[in-house]
Amino acid sequence: MSFKDSKVVIVGCGNVGSTTAYTIINQGLAEEIVLIDVNKDKSYAEALDMAHSIYFMNRNINIHAGEYSDCKDADIVIITASAPMPKDSSSRLDMLAPSIKIIKSIVSSVMESGFNGIFLIISNPVDIMTYMVYKMSGLPKNQVIGSGTNLDSARLCCELADMYDLDSKSVSAYVCGEHGDSEIVSWHSAVIGGKSVENVMKDNPDRTKNITREDLQKQTIKAGWDIFNRKGNTCYGIAASAAAICKSILFNENHIYPVTVGLSGQYGIKNAWLSVPTIIDRTGAKEIVEIRLDPDEEKALRHSAELLESFYGELGL
Ligand code: 2OP
Repeated sequence: MSFKDSKVVIVGCGNVGSTTAYTIINQGLAEEIVLIDVNKDKSYAEALDMAHSIYFMNRNINIHAGEYSDCKDADIVIITASAPMPKDSSSRLDMLAPSIKIIKSIVSSVMESGFNGIFLIISNPVDIMTYMVYKMSGLPKNQVIGSGTNLDSARLCCELADMYDLDSKSVSAYVCGEHGDSEIVSWHSAVIGGKSVENVMKDNPDRTKNITREDLQKQTIKAGWDIFNRKGNTCYGIAASAAAICKSILFNENHIYPVTVGLSGQYGIKNAWLSVPTIIDRTGAKEIVEIRLDPDEEKALRHSAELLESFYGELGL
C-alpha cells in the first residue's frame, strides 16, 4: 500500500463521515474515497458535491458513493455511523445499546467483501465499539484501531497553548483510557517546548492564574459537550483526528497517537481496549508505547479499563 494508490471507505455520511472525507480530500491523503450510507441519496449527494471540489484541490482524487463490495481492496474502512445520542444524555456510553446492531451489521457487510485492511472506528462509544469490531471481524489486533482519546489529547494541547499563547503543536500531552469521563492525563509526559507542563504552570503564575491540572482535565472532558450541546454534533476536530491517523497509515509515518487499541498486559491491563500512545504505520497499530504514569494515574487508567470491560457482556458476542 502507498498513498499513491490508496483507497479509503467511509461508512456513514453524517457530519463526521462527510467532514472526514472532505478533510482527506483537502490533504490529498488518498487516491480513492468511497462513501457508504444507509441513505443512498445522502452518500450520492455528498460524494458528488465533494467531487466538484476536486477541481480546486491539489490532487485529483476519485470520490464516489459505493457499496460494501468496494471494501474488498480498501486500505482503510472508517466507521462513523452510530445511533443518535439519546436526548439529554451526558455520556457517550448511552449510545451503546442503540449502536450495537448498527455496527454489527456494518462489520458483517464489510467482512463479507473480503476486506483485510485496517478498521478505524469513530462511532461512539468508540472504545467499546472498537473492541466489538475486533471480536466480530477476526482481524489481527493491529488492524483494528479506534480514534479514542486522540482528539481529547489535541483538546488538552489546545487549552495549554491558549493559556501560554503558543502554537498547540508545541505542546505534547497524552490523554489515555476511555474517550469519556474516566479518561486520564499522563502529566508526567506532558511537555511544552521540552519543559514539563508542571514547571511551565509553576514558572508562569501570571498566565496560569489559579488554573489547576484538575481544571484542565475536567475542561478536556467537557470540551466535546460544550460543542455538542450548542450545535448538536462535533465534526471538525474528530475528522482532523481521523485524517491524521489515516495519514500515518497511508504514508507509513510511524507517528505516535493515543488511539484505542487492545492491551495485553501493558499498564497491568490484560484485555481492555482503550487509548494509550501507539505507533501507527502501514500495518495499523504497530506497537504500544508504555509511557510512565504516576501511581494515581495508573490506578485511574485501570479503573477506566474495568469500566469499559464491564460493558462487554452487553454486546452479545
Ligand atoms: C468528540 O468528542 C465525536 O466523541 C467525539 O468530539
